[in-house]
Amino acid sequence: MTANVIIGAQWGDEGKGKVVDLFTEFADIVVRFQGGNNAGHTLVVEENGVTQKTVLHLIPSGILHRNKVCVIASGVVLDPGVLLGELDALAQRGHTVEPRQLLIASDASVILPYHCALDIARETSKGERKIGTTGRGIGPCYEDRVARRAVFVRDLLDEPSLREKLESNLPEKNQLLAHYGAPGFELEAVLAQMLALGVRLAPFVRETGRFIYDEVHRGRNVLFEGAQGTLLDVSLGTYPFVTSSHTTAGGVCVGAGIAPSAINGVIGITKAYCTRVGSGPFPTELNDEVGEFMRKAGHEFGSTTGRPRRCGWIDVAALRYATRINGFTGLAVTKLDVLSGLERVKFCVGYHDAQGNQLDEPPMDVARLATLTPIYEELSGWSEDISGVRVFDDLPRNARHFLRRLETILGVPIVLVSVGAKRAETIVLENIYR
Ligand code: GDP
Ligand code: IMO
Ligand code: MG
Repeated sequence: MTANVIIGAQWGDEGKGKVVDLFTEFADIVVRFQGGNNAGHTLVVEENGVTQKTVLHLIPSGILHRNKVCVIASGVVLDPGVLLGELDALAQRGHTVEPRQLLIASDASVILPYHCALDIARETSKGERKIGTTGRGIGPCYEDRVARRAVFVRDLLDEPSLREKLESNLPEKNQLLAHYGAPGFELEAVLAQMLALGVRLAPFVRETGRFIYDEVHRGRNVLFEGAQGTLLDVSLGTYPFVTSSHTTAGGVCVGAGIAPSAINGVIGITKAYCTRVGSGPFPTELNDEVGEFMRKAGHEFGSTTGRPRRCGWIDVAALRYATRINGFTGLAVTKLDVLSGLERVKFCVGYHDAQGNQLDEPPMDVARLATLTPIYEELSGWSEDISGVRVFDDLPRNARHFLRRLETILGVPIVLVSVGAKRAETIVLENIYR
């Protein structure tokens, strides 16, 4: 049996969707365990000779493999309308998802319309100090979970229970919305809307914790698909410029209900450079023509909100931190092709603070992080188009050197290198399910 976890090692959008889709071939079950439809995971797959792009927000990225089971576990915050929209979009393309292919945890928290309204109202009120959230209600929904007033997926199938929770929650939400000058919600309308969505969700709903445990212990291969990235973790990231869930490897245990000892491997995904969407410090950010080159060559516009992503050099010091807290056993390096054409490429290996002290990991105190100056190692670039390369040794010498240097600094082997968005544009160095 093998249970592997795939974790974003940066600020999200590292290419988790592509890598999960690729490794699903060898897995039996793919599990999302945290986050919600703030995620946007892109798969570019050839079907019947046509290249199809699919952006998934909630459904696990294994869904295009028909004979696998995808699970949305209890740690996820689920917007039922978004999930059903995603299912409809897949069905329209001939990918009808059967209840045996998708299991939704009965105890996942539901994102209600007032969560989205509050998320947007709070961001608007913050003005310049906004977090830059996706506006999908993620934070307010997790708040309710921690505050012990969550609406669970199972409540959508149980009118008295849902009514009771809405009666208890809605007056307070409406007061909060009024505080921000936003319109409130009417109980009967929310109730009717949610119950109708519940009817459609019902065939997929079950208890998933025991299912995952039983499958792991039956010797099945399980792939846990992280959303967001390490530096967006609510406890271990660049707080307050973070999301509201545990995006790091520890999040798997509480989000899917499995023990740390059941996990065999933790794969960290990093781009060959770095991006960030939303606010917050980003020491290696480039506000120059190189940053613009990366944005253009890498099509760095958000999969969920379409916002331009901030771009900069790879931050190996931040990856050192990510390696420490996630315990990476392997690395997947994506978008190496985007660097083709740059004469020099830079690696941030540490920072200097205002006092001249040298740091080998970023402090998660954002006030301090914002004042650091990166220390770079410079490597020679390469000009070749590498999107057709399928074997490591066929990469240009300088590209190989870039990857080997990354491995050496982090002390973690590279298992996969991605050289294009398509499933096939990949160099697999080690099959994590072998
Ligand atoms: P995720 O959120 O981690 O799944 O990543 P996103 O899907 O939000 O963003 C990654 C983007 O890069 C998507 O548009 C992918 O299609 C694309 N992509 C993934 N791997 C590669 C790669 O190796 N090269 C290039 N050029 N694009 C890639
Ligand atoms: P994937 O899974 C990149 C960012 C938002 C914002 C912060 C908080 O595609 O990598 P939230 O809506 O979660 O309260 O927003 O987190 N963010 C992401 N950035 N990729 C993501 O997901 C993200 N999900 C949230 O931009 O800065
Ligand atoms: Mg994304």
